[in-house]
Amino acid sequence: MSSEIQLSLFDESSSNPTELIPTDGKIPIPAGTYTHMSELAQHCNQCQRCELGQTRTHAVVGRGNLNAEIMIVGEAPGQNEDETGLPFVGRSGQLLEKILASVKLTTEDDVYIANINKCRPPNNRVPTPSEMAACLPYLLEQIRLVDPKIILLTGATALKGLTGEKQAITKIRGQWIEWEGRLCMPIFHPSYLLRNPSKEKGSPKWLMWQDIQAVRAKYDEIKQSLS
Ligand code: URA
Repeated sequence: MSSEIQLSLFDESSSNPTELIPTDGKIPIPAGTYTHMSELAQHCNQCQRCELGQTRTHAVVGRGNLNAEIMIVGEAPGQNEDETGLPFVGRSGQLLEKILASVKLTTEDDVYIANINKCRPPNNRVPTPSEMAACLPYLLEQIRLVDPKIILLTGATALKGLTGEKQAITKIRGQWIEWEGRLCMPIFHPSYLLRNPSKEKGSPKWLMWQDIQAVRAKYDEIKQSLS
């Protein structure tokens, strides 16, 4: 290596991560851009790939075990998440934690949680297709870094945002689908369960109980095959 090239490694601008963030959401962020989640989080907090960057307090990247075998993908941050910078910490998040705990899954050991969109849409509206597309490369990098065996997609927006499949969640929930060689299961979004509190047989909460037990069984099977 020439001494000039070696010296250029000291160049501040060439290692400035903000330089790598395309401000146009259509410009790709290639796989392998990030070596650690903290770099990705730094980018997200400076990102202006879509207009949601202008109104966020914090980008909400993820929480949980960075080596988890299960990843949960939500839609987008709400007010609590925007304020804290952590996904699923409001009422939906509390319910999600209870659902996980019911089959002895924890974010310390088993689960990593992220969202399709890292920034809160105003008034908690559904993110637009172009906002989802602008943010998708970050999620793809998160999936590559965590490398989960199972991905749970909470609600139709998460399913559409990741896989592009447009399906009613009531039709597809509980079914294992393969996406990019990974096992995915669409499940109800916890906010839907908050709006439908019945636990009667066949109700959304009852169906979630069936789904999370199926997830636990698949997780045990995978862990056994890895050991
Ligand atoms: N709903 C989501 O989809 N994600 C969050 O982080 C919080 C609520």
